[in-house]
Amino acid sequence: MPHRIIIALDTDMPTALALAERLHGRARWLKVGMTLFYAEGPSTVARLREMGFDVFLDLKLHDIPHQVAGAASEIARLGVGMVSVHASGGSAMVRAAAEGLAEGAAKAGVACPKLLAVTVLTSMDAAALAEVGVPDPPAEQVLRLAHVARHGGADGVVCSPEEAARMRALLGADALVVTPGVRPAGSDAGDQARVATPRAAVAAGASHLVIGRPITAADNPVAAYERIVAEVSGL
Ligand code: C5P
Repeated sequence: MPHRIIIALDTDMPTALALAERLHGRARWLKVGMTLFYAEGPSTVARLREMGFDVFLDLKLHDIPHQVAGAASEIARLGVGMVSVHASGGSAMVRAAAEGLAEGAAKAGVACPKLLAVTVLTSMDAAALAEVGVPDPPAEQVLRLAHVARHGGADGVVCSPEEAARMRALLGADALVVTPGVRPAGSDAGDQARVATPRAAVAAGASHLVIGRPITAADNPVAAYERIVAEVSGL
């Protein structure tokens, strides 16, 4: 199912648009993160939506509930399909995001985006967690934050492929389990610490895979994307 691959466009706008044009008609989901959004703003999302893509706006909101509700309400009006918040902001903050999305979508007359709660960044290992005061292994902190996500009314979580099976078991069949940290066999992990192949991530229960540089930095991004689609097809 090619629709489960979300391509992270962490590039400047001309590069992102060139990639989008090449992937048009093949991919459904594109992810706009801070790099692109802070450079170009909401018009980025509008351009990609006009081209027919579904957009995951990955701004990882993390602030007091009032601010997050306001941000989520504005984001919902853009017509994106998925939005992210940090579960570590607490269930009240996650709930504020969910309510803000519902309010903004209703006002704009668009479908309400799905809300994803980021558990532990896939770039963080046990040492990085310890540095910020969490003595537990990443898998335990992910579990703790998944409970926060659920209590806050999120539609799913973002976690590494290593935790996808536990997330699926905890959150049930309908939850979104979105995994970055995906690397086809033999490719460079870069700054990602907790990684798995596309096939392993889907087999573990991921509903969607977020993949950036293995596609966007490839000599032939379309071929790289098609290879990943082939790897997970039939799973
Ligand atoms: O290039 P790469 O495949 O590493 O890109 C992964 C993408 O997933 C980036 O856009 C990053 O912001 C995002 N992400 C992540 N870890 C999370 C949540 C999102 O790497 N926990």
